[in-house]
This record gives sequence, structure tokens and C-alpha cells, in this order.
Amino acid sequence: MSLRICFISAETAPLAKAGGLADVSGALVKYLHAAGHDIRLFMPAYSSIDPRGLDLHPVQFLQGLSVRIGEYSYTFSVLTSLLPGSSARIYLIDCPALFHRSAIYGSAPDEHRRFLLLTHAAFLCCQKMAFAPQILHCNDWHTAMAPLWLRTAYRWDRLFEHTRSVFTIHNIGYQGVLDAAAASEVLAGADPRHLHQDDLRTGRINMLRHALMYADLVTTVSPTYAREIQTPEYGMGMEGTLRNRADSLVGILNGVDYEEWDPRHDRHLPRHYGANQLGIKGELKQQLLQRLQLQSAAHRPLIGSVSRLATQKGFDLLMESLPVLLEARDFNLALLGSGEARYEAFFRELQQRWPGRVSFHNGYHDELAHWIEAGSDMFLMPSRYEPCGLNQMYSLRYGTVPIVRRTGGLADSVQHFDAATGQGTGVMFNDYNTGAVSWAIATALDLYQNRGAWRRLVQNGMAQNFSWNRQVRQYVDLYSRLI
Ligand code: ADP
Ligand code: GLC
Repeated sequence: MSLRICFISAETAPLAKAGGLADVSGALVKYLHAAGHDIRLFMPAYSSIDPRGLDLHPVQFLQGLSVRIGEYSYTFSVLTSLLPGSSARIYLIDCPALFHRSAIYGSAPDEHRRFLLLTHAAFLCCQKMAFAPQILHCNDWHTAMAPLWLRTAYRWDRLFEHTRSVFTIHNIGYQGVLDAAAASEVLAGADPRHLHQDDLRTGRINMLRHALMYADLVTTVSPTYAREIQTPEYGMGMEGTLRNRADSLVGILNGVDYEEWDPRHDRHLPRHYGANQLGIKGELKQQLLQRLQLQSAAHRPLIGSVSRLATQKGFDLLMESLPVLLEARDFNLALLGSGEARYEAFFRELQQRWPGRVSFHNGYHDELAHWIEAGSDMFLMPSRYEPCGLNQMYSLRYGTVPIVRRTGGLADSVQHFDAATGQGTGVMFNDYNTGAVSWAIATALDLYQNRGAWRRLVQNGMAQNFSWNRQVRQYVDLYSRLI
């Protein structure tokens, strides 16, 4: 059965990407469309989007539309294009007042209104296109009011009579917490009793919480994270609301778009390799070392990492463990990332302290991310929490051994290597502390010197398959059950 799906996301690769949400939105749309479903994606027309490679044009009947958000009025128009690498149609909400900014996300006082507008725009476009979605699939706090609006503000329209809402939590750390004064903006005319009353009494509105309360189904991006977020340690205040919805909460591991992330045909690499061509991986490593001005030494492994520099990713542990390990052990480190100033400063200093051994590229660089996946021997992801994580799955395919903490999607996609049996795909540690991460890095460095075991470990990882072709079927099953 072909399904009609309205998909709303703040990011979509390759148009606009801050992190994994973009990869997942782009891939879900591409693979659901390829499976024969009528999926229409709505996202902001950020001024940073590069129009080259898109066939962007205005939708004639979706020009100069207006929306009121509380006391504010906005006008927007709609552009459309095919998603690159797919024949799925996407719709870009063009509202210069809100989306022509220097970055995808910001901290201006109207940040929430940018995404309330996106959410309204998706409903209005469905109406003007007479598109009656069976599934309204929204993602993260930005689009969290959609499930409530489906039951209230847009309920009058019979177009949405059979629409069921799915809300995916990609990261519970970002919740869209507003002052209670924004009530009329998030309510869109609905009765204030629909708001979470305990939050309101503390003078706050938590946008994310309303999606957890009102979505017909809540999903998150790994089975382990679905369990973790029902506990105080990982729930970030949402655990109670989630436990109330435990029957409607499902974890589906993200997939990998192997058309984009596979060393056998990666378009960013000059040479390609599979599991039996690891010599080519070695040559790419040498080129990467040169490019990053790192010293090449026999038997010296390269540890790579590509990440948002956020507390979530475990950088506090690395600030303690890396200086000691660099003294004691022989390895190079290549890090690509940007984010919190204290981490950026730390890695800049580490690079100065260890010229030729540490390379820090401060910024966002897609092509270099592919090179680090291909040229590194190990990939470091010591996350404090990780809803799914994509880079550990990319690393497996590139023969780059993941060193990860056993949490969230990392726990669901990597198995600790056992040298005695030759089983396993990475090196894992449990406790979030410096001793544990240092142990894991040292264990990986030791294993690397055992050429036979290392080769086995690398090849075990390369044989894993996390294709979206498979993961997308789980979404289709859920959608089908809902309608
Ligand atoms: P998160 O969404 O929490 O950032 P994920 O592992 O799900 O974590 O996805 C991160 C994605 O963003 C990956 O595709 C990764 O390669 C990419 N990425 C993160 N930081 C950078 C960067 N500085 N340059 C290029 N790509 C990056
Ligand atoms: C988030 C999470 C990450 C996940 C991604 C896509 O930003 O931090 O773990 O892979 O979303 O779902």
C-alpha cells in the first residue's frame, strides 16, 4: 500500500545540515519515496542553502501566504525542488524575515517562531495542495506543536480527519523551553488547558513535552535510547511524560545511506576500497596525514573524530584523558568539529602542544569528514548520551574501528571485540569517566599492534549492514499499524 506522508524537519541533507537530523531526514524521504510512498518534505528555505544542484522554483499557488503567530504576522512563499539523488519532491518555506540568518540555528528571541512558522506552513501547504496525509511525521522540538495542532487548530479541516501523527525524538537534550508568555504563540488558538499545567505553573512552556503528550506515536532513533529516556539519568525531565506513553514509544535504529557513505564508491575519495583492499585504505591514510601535516611513523595508528563539540559527545572526558595518553602512547589524532568555545580552545592548544601528532580542523567540512572516516584507523565517540549516532556506523563500513561508550545507538550498533573468539566490531566502555575512556583507547591501541586480530576486527565491522533499505521498513510497518 502506498502511504501519503507529510514530513517536517528543520534540517535535511544535503541542503542544510547541522548534525545527524539532516542525514536522517534526507535518507528517510529518499528511501520512503523509493519504496513507492507519496512523501512530501517541508523545511525552511535557509539563505545558506546552495541552489546549485537543485532545480528550485516557486510554487505558483503557494506565494505570499500569511500566518499569525500570537501577535506576530509573517508572510511566506514556497519553493520546490527534487531532493538531490532522489525523485522525491521537497518544499522549502521561504520566509526571509525568519530564515535569512547566518546559521541554521540561533539564539535570537524569535528562534521558536521560526519553527512554529515552519509547522504552520506545512499544514497550510497540505491544505492548498489538497494533500491529505495519512501520516504527519515531525522531528525534534522544532516541530513539536504539530501533534497538538492536528487535534486542535487544524481539526476543523476534514482533510486531516484520518491523519495520524508520529513524532521522532532525535535528541532529548533540546526541548524548546519558552516563557509562559509565549502561550498564545504555541497554542495557535487552542484551549490553554492543553498546555502542560505543571510546567505552566513554573512559568514555562516546554514545546517538546507537548509532542510527547499528543503524538499518536513517539519514536526515537535506537531501542536502547528508547529505554534510557524513561529514566531520570537520560530523560532530561521528560522521563515521567515518556513513561506515561511507554506503550506508544518505539526505538528504531537509524540507517546509513550507503550511496553517500561507502569506501567502495565514495565520491570524495580518489581511490576506493572494500574489505579485501585494505592496502588502499593505508594509502589514503598516508595522503590524509600529509594533508593534515601529521607525521607518518610505522605502526602508529591514527585516531579520528568528527563531531559537534558539545557536552553530549563526551569531550569532558577527552580533555582529561588525551593529554596523558599523548605522553604515554604512540598515536596521531585528527579531529574535525565546531561548537562550544571551551572545547575549541582545548583542541587548539592540544594541536599547538603536539605539532605533527594532533590536527584540529575547527569548522564544518563535509569532504574532510569523509576523508577522516576513510583515512583513520579508529574513530572516537565517547558520548555521555547518544540517541543513535551515525559516525560509528559510517566508521564500521570504512574499516575504521569505533571506540565508543555503551549507550544509546552506540550500544545497538557496535559489539565489543573479543580477541579470544574473534567476534565483535569495536572497543566499548561502560562508565562515563576518564579511567574508562582511557582504558578503551589504550585497549584499541594495543589491539592495533596485533595485526591478525586487528584485521579481523576491521573486517567484522566492514561486513555490518545498517542500510536504510532495511530500517525504513520498520517505519512503514509502524505507519501502517497507526492508520
Ligand atoms: P549529532 O546529530 O548528534 O551531531 P550524529 O552522529 O547522528 O550526531 O550525526 C552527525 C553528522 O554530522 C554526521 O554525518 C557527521 O559526519 C556530521 N558532522 C558533525 N560535525 C561535522 C563537521 N564539523 N564537519 C562535517 N560533518 C560533521
Ligand atoms: C541527534 C542525535 C544523534 C542521532 C541524530 C539523528 O542529533 O544526537 O545521536 O544520530 O540526531 O537521529
